[in-house]
Amino acid sequence: MKILLTGATGQVGWELTRTLLPLGEVIAVNRNQADLADLSSLRAVIQQHKPDVIVNPAAYTAVDKAETEKELAFLINAEAPGVLAEEARKTGALLVHYSTDYVFDGSKTTPYVEDDPTNPLNVYGQSKLAGEQAIQQVAGDCLILRTSWVYTNRGSNFLKTILRLAAEREELKIVADQIGSPTWARLIAETTAHLVRQALLERQSGRFKSDIYHLTSSGETSWHGFAEQIVNNVREQGTLTLKNRVIQPIPATDYPVPAQRPANSRLSCQKLEQHFRLTMPSWDNSLRLCMQDLA
Ligand SMILES: NC(=O)c1ccc[n+]([C@@H]2O[C@H](COP(=O)([O-])OP(=O)(O)OC[C@H]3O[C@@H](n4cnc5c(N)ncnc54)[C@H](OP(=O)(O)O)[C@@H]3O)[C@@H](O)[C@H]2O)c1
Repeated sequence: MKILLTGATGQVGWELTRTLLPLGEVIAVNRNQADLADLSSLRAVIQQHKPDVIVNPAAYTAVDKAETEKELAFLINAEAPGVLAEEARKTGALLVHYSTDYVFDGSKTTPYVEDDPTNPLNVYGQSKLAGEQAIQQVAGDCLILRTSWVYTNRGSNFLKTILRLAAEREELKIVADQIGSPTWARLIAETTAHLVRQALLERQSGRFKSDIYHLTSSGETSWHGFAEQIVNNVREQGTLTLKNRVIQPIPATDYPVPAQRPANSRLSCQKLEQHFRLTMPSWDNSLRLCMQDLA
């Protein structure tokens, strides 16, 4: 079996290059080999490899920059996934694509379920929602996995930023009125491998149904709670010398950024857990494991 994996240099993509290996031949491509902003060459790459599965973690993920680069964000996050879906359908491949909690406006007071009404607050969220819709319009076999607050021990993300800032500064001010579930890229990649395996079995037996699933850690916290847990873990592990003494909770209004974020980013994973017989681990458990790796 051949799996074409895009965005192999990203947080989720890098982990997928490892977790997909037991399923078959993984053809991991980076931006130079498969540019999502160049739709005709993207088609050619798929036609050349004729994969059985396409896994697409590549995306335009610069949430604030997207406010001023709308066209590029839509090209990569909306048009390219539509092209992947068309080519997957032609070759009979299963498409696995990732989306985001930012398709919601965060006004719900409980975790979002898959068919809750969408209403993105920023351009990035709009482009990711348009990507979901472009894939669904093609009506091939696909799994769309919405995740949230992704981190891992490489690249740039909230975990790496807090580690750096806590080593440099005595006081940090972190947003406390946005809540969600921090999700380790490795958890996403390991869960994806399980999902692909089951989806392929379901396809063989004619039971497969394309669908959207929420895939995050379980439990919830704020960015402030996430930062505190990172610093607590460092202290427990004794691996880094930190200057930090206090992490001050602040409202999002005190940390102005170009793109508005939802106050509630919680996604219910009940549908995924039931369908694929999984139990998603708690966010703080995954964070501890990721930080042990980092240490
Ligand atoms: N990060 C989060 O907090 C978060 C939250 C919710 C959902 N998601 C979704 O989860 C998925 C994985 O996110 P991530 O955090 O792993 O993203 P990431 O670390 O930012 O990686 C994005 C990847 O996409 C590649 N890419 C960007 N533009 C490209 C282009 N034009 N052609 C080909 N590749 C291109 C990047 O390549 P380069 O290395 O060359 O730039 C990189 O490999 C995405 O669909 C994202 O929207 C992420």
